[in-house]
Amino acid sequence: MQKVRKAIIPAAGYGTRFLPATKAMPKEMIPIVDKPTIQFIVEEAIASGIEDILIITGKLKRPIEDHFDSNPELEENLRAKGKADLLELVEETTGLNLYFARQAYPLGLGHAVLQAKAFVGNEPFVIMLGDDIMADEVPLTKQLIDSYEKTHASNIAVMKVPHEETSSYGIIDPEAEAGDGLYNVRKFVEKPDPDDAPSDLAIIGRYLLTPEIFNILEHLEPGKGGEIQLTDAIDILNKTQRVFAKEFKGERYDVGDKFGFLKTTIQYGLKHPQVKDGLREYILELAKDLESGKVDNKMNAESHDLEEAKD
Ligand code: UTP
Repeated sequence: MQKVRKAIIPAAGYGTRFLPATKAMPKEMIPIVDKPTIQFIVEEAIASGIEDILIITGKLKRPIEDHFDSNPELEENLRAKGKADLLELVEETTGLNLYFARQAYPLGLGHAVLQAKAFVGNEPFVIMLGDDIMADEVPLTKQLIDSYEKTHASNIAVMKVPHEETSSYGIIDPEAEAGDGLYNVRKFVEKPDPDDAPSDLAIIGRYLLTPEIFNILEHLEPGKGGEIQLTDAIDILNKTQRVFAKEFKGERYDVGDKFGFLKTTIQYGLKHPQVKDGLREYILELAKDLESGKVDNKMNAESHDLEEAKD
């Protein structure tokens, strides 16, 4: 059996749910306290034993490449000032086995994945979405690799979502659970209306796939939203070889969504050694003020928008 060595991180989407912040900045670079989201994903890949990572980028995504490049001037400056701890932080994102490919037009997740065909070759590989942070004792990508080693087949991570949210996800039609949170799947359906959703098990941002997916993607017609949908390709793959769904029981943080981003920031802030105590105190105080109706009005003075300045 071939070892799973390669991961691809699609990061070429427009990030419209996070406008205007993503007008000129990649959403994958939005920081959680002090670390860009995509760095969490790269760290999960490395912790799972992945050796080579291809990031799919597009227009306005250069900051992602720069983040993982060296910055000799900054490094020299920190060295001269004796800031060894900061230097270490800056240097830990360089020298990794990272590669980049461009998706000329964001025609959908399936199309982004297709750009990795030559990089992947004839091996099983992992897809990790650039805006989904997963937290668990064993990294989710490692859980999928472990499951692949038992099943010798593609494994897609899924998670229960509220029924009314099924239209935001790929949803599976599961057969009976085969044990260990593993499901055989009858069908993979992209963004079904809640009335038509075959279950509440949604495809989340981690996939382990066999390379046969590329032949399917090459001939796939656009699906929901006029985009080349990875879910449609997986459904076709499942007709010729088994594709399992593996239920994730850890925490998922959707950083591409505004509320998801806020929750993630608070959760990680409460663990961050430099800010956790202050943040905890602040939240407790805020909760008391919210409860008593005494809400802080300081921000209101600055909250006029740019439209007003134009008048
Ligand atoms: P999303 O649908 O969450 O990303 O795709 P998006 O389109 O950028 O975001 P919204 O919905 O407009 O806010 C999941 C992942 O797939 C990548 C995105 O960058 C994101 O990390 N993607 C999506 C591509 O790389 N190319 C595409 O054509 C579409």
